[in-house]
Amino acid sequence: MRNIVAGNWKSNKLLKEGEELIADINHGMPSLRKTDVIVAPPAPYLAHYAANGSKSSHVMLSAQQCSVNSAGAHTGEFTAEMLKSCGVNHVIIGHSERRDRFGETYEVVRNKVKEAVTANLHVLLCCGESLAVREEQGHFELIAEQLKDALMHIGPELMANITIAYEPIWAIGTGVTATADQAQEMHQFIRKQLTSSYDSKIAKATRILYGGSCKPSNADEIFGKPDVNGGLIGGAALDAESFLALISASEAS
Ligand code: PGA
Repeated sequence: MRNIVAGNWKSNKLLKEGEELIADINHGMPSLRKTDVIVAPPAPYLAHYAANGSKSSHVMLSAQQCSVNSAGAHTGEFTAEMLKSCGVNHVIIGHSERRDRFGETYEVVRNKVKEAVTANLHVLLCCGESLAVREEQGHFELIAEQLKDALMHIGPELMANITIAYEPIWAIGTGVTATADQAQEMHQFIRKQLTSSYDSKIAKATRILYGGSCKPSNADEIFGKPDVNGGLIGGAALDAESFLALISASEAS
């Protein structure tokens, strides 16, 4: 199974800065044996990057979210199908910042996953617990619930379109990373959940990424764990040198 190293730029970079970052990543890219490289720039740039990216680019594009609706009178929204029509093949859904700050409920996340898969986008589905939930030992139960709900409409035949990103909220943007053992423990648990919801073949084939203050100094250890298939990277994806170091860590894992 190939790893994924995906950069979530969030609301950072202007159009030209992002273009330069993608060019620098392509320039420094090692030959990729086992890693798919994805970046998720702000939505207004996606069509431009897709149209102007060189044919030899090894960087695939993702959106950071999509509308829960399909086409219609939904001012300001962009649909999964629109992303696909721009040459975008991936979308992040259920990021904790969307859930917490933009009111994305379980129902919204579940329906966005369905919209995205119907439009033939590959979904990077995020799950993760707060510090309070972890301290109360509720993290396994919560992750099981988040995944079960988000994947309610996704039958086994559609699971090839899903990658899961485990992102403990207490580790996002805080500099505090889950230990490699904590990541492995949760990733193994997620795989078990996939075995019981689907089967062991699907559980084995589904990629599970770690996210939350992942950086060159901790990536070797985290990516080295058997159930970790790469990372969803925020801060360290905004700089070509650190993003390339993370890609190299994935290649070496
Ligand atoms: P971080 O963000 O790497 O800056 O912690 C990860 C994410 O939010 O996807």
